[in-house]
Amino acid sequence: MQNLGYYNGKYDLIENMMIPMNDRVCWFGDGVYDVSCARNRIPHLFDAHIERFFNSAKLLRIEMPMTREELKKLTFEMMDKVDSGNVMIYWQVTRGTAARSHEFPKDVKANFWMTIRPKEVAVPEKPITLISVEDTRYLHCNIKTLNLIPNCMAEQAAKDAGCNTAVFHRGDIVTECAHSNVHIIKDGKIITHNADNLILPGIARANLLRLADVAGIEAVQRPFTMDELMNADEVFTTSTTALCSRVSTVDGKPVGMKDEKTFKKLQDVCFGDFFAATEKK
Ligand code: PDD
Repeated sequence: MQNLGYYNGKYDLIENMMIPMNDRVCWFGDGVYDVSCARNRIPHLFDAHIERFFNSAKLLRIEMPMTREELKKLTFEMMDKVDSGNVMIYWQVTRGTAARSHEFPKDVKANFWMTIRPKEVAVPEKPITLISVEDTRYLHCNIKTLNLIPNCMAEQAAKDAGCNTAVFHRGDIVTECAHSNVHIIKDGKIITHNADNLILPGIARANLLRLADVAGIEAVQRPFTMDELMNADEVFTTSTTALCSRVSTVDGKPVGMKDEKTFKKLQDVCFGDFFAATEKK
């Protein structure tokens, strides 16, 4: 199969799949998701993604319809049906199927979705460009919920401005990007917003911090300002799908690009780790 969509035991090409209108995702976006990438049918940082997925569900009081081991087994089974071994794996769990009513329905089982689509992870050829957008999201950004309208609006505003993506700020404080975490390098050190309720605890971010530590590059986890971002030696983003991308402009003004040595070292370890961990056995 070219791709795969799975819903509560049924699977087909994504474009052939149908879901019930009363799935609470349709009324409330009432669910959580997670995204991981695999190469050679080997998912990268799989356990970390599983843990975050279960934790997001727990924070919304959604009871997972399967165990971690069952999720793992099912994902490998479904990956085997897809032609490419280099894929993006998307999991989603929604609270269940019930008539529209704000309170949580009683005695319904959560619905489990999965899609698997071809995806090549590759070192970007050129730096990316950002616009800045006031972060008007709510205060549960640590939960990977399906409520992504502000992120979609910010991404579209970036595209309308001819840029790649948007960086959010709450007042003066930089939080994260529309679908990645953002970091700066100053005087050879990484500065990244601490993992509180204002940002998603990115799996690529956590791996960056682990790899930076091994490479002897210091990292400080604290809020930083737009001014610090605009005057940083380097600005870069991390995410599961793009791993590590250098930023060259924000709102049309040049930023970073002044400490290639430190940035390259970090980008090399991020991609090196992905390729080594997903090498064919
Ligand atoms: N996005 N912050 C936000 C708001 C995100 O949506 C993402 C990921 C990240 C980075 O998280 P991670 O390193 O775990 O991918 C940070 C995914 C890829 C998406 O929605 O498609």
